[in-house]
Amino acid sequence: MPAHAIFRESLLEGQVALVTGGGSGIGLGIASELASLGAHVVLASRDETRLTGAVDRITGAGGSASALTLDVRDPERVRAVVQQVAEERGRIDLLVNNAAGNFYVPSESMSPNAWRAVLDIDLSGTFYCSQAVLPVMRQRGGGRIVNISMTLHYRGWPLMAHATAAKAGIDALTRTLALEWASYGVRVNAVAPGPIPTEGVRKAFAAPSGSGVPDVFAVERAMAEHAAKTIPLQRWGEPADIAHMVTFLASPAGDWITGAILVVDGGEWLARPGPVGATPA
Ligand code: COA
Ligand code: NAP
Repeated sequence: MPAHAIFRESLLEGQVALVTGGGSGIGLGIASELASLGAHVVLASRDETRLTGAVDRITGAGGSASALTLDVRDPERVRAVVQQVAEERGRIDLLVNNAAGNFYVPSESMSPNAWRAVLDIDLSGTFYCSQAVLPVMRQRGGGRIVNISMTLHYRGWPLMAHATAAKAGIDALTRTLALEWASYGVRVNAVAPGPIPTEGVRKAFAAPSGSGVPDVFAVERAMAEHAAKTIPLQRWGEPADIAHMVTFLASPAGDWITGAILVVDGGEWLARPGPVGATPA
């Protein structure tokens, strides 16, 4: 359902949102929805070509968008990007910490650099960006931060030690920053998506052959009815499902919500049969 059929069309008019990883997948879905409701969105990630394409797509649909290249692992660059947005736009109302990296790798052979890459992008990047926007938000009396988490760490997920640890850290950070920054009027929440077959996640979840881990997206490609069996609400998620929740949290409807981690997954993790090699019937 299009966002303007759910939310008031000018809901976010005049607001500025910074979306990390906003050039693709869920981040692009979030940015597109925020822009369709009147916000100016700044997309920030590494791949300039992808960013340019995403900005064109949003502006082509009538939205307002710009992009800055950013590796969220670099705290100096994070600060510079935030400062540039604040100078050019005068405000940052919403930060969406969506950038992430992921790949299947057995823990016993994971290199320190592989561990560090994912922890640095997902967890440290979320912290650096949150810390950097705080003074800008404080100056205007408050703001909202929405972290994109996951559900795989609720039970554990083989070959994803780095990402599950990072996202568990993001959940902890969400709650702690919510408490520390509530008095500044800064609300900090998280959205935990279920399986959404973006190109990025298809790549990340390409299970090594013989690993015994179900390649959920290969199954999705082969058999649409798989979702009907494994997800209580009987479909895969879409970026818009996550965008609607982020918009809700960004709107005044979320004014008394902070430190919350909202699962948007069609009931998938509750119904999951088990973490280790359990291929759903
Ligand atoms: N299996 C095992 N190790 C891997 C790997 C894989 N599929 N992909 C990367 N690594 C390791 C590399 O070997 C390297 O470790 P090493 O130096 O000991 O060899 C380390 O991870 C860093 O890899 P690098 O290629 O330098 O990547 P990067 O620093 O640019 O980090 C990634 C980015 C690796 C996280 C990459 O997956 C990425 O850009 N992902 C974005 C898209 C994505 O993951 N989307 C899904 C979101 S859920
Ligand atoms: P995606 O399209 O691959 O998105 C990841 C984004 O992060 C990309 O735009 C990428 O852009 C950016 N990124 C990666 N490393 C970065 C870095 N070092 N600095 C800045 N940006 C970086 O995958 P997605 O599925 O949309 O995932 C989006 C979010 O949803 C992630 O937080 C993911 O963990 C979460 N999630 C997804 C699912 C799912 O099923 N899809 C489920 C649960 C949670 P560049 O390559 O240009 O930098």
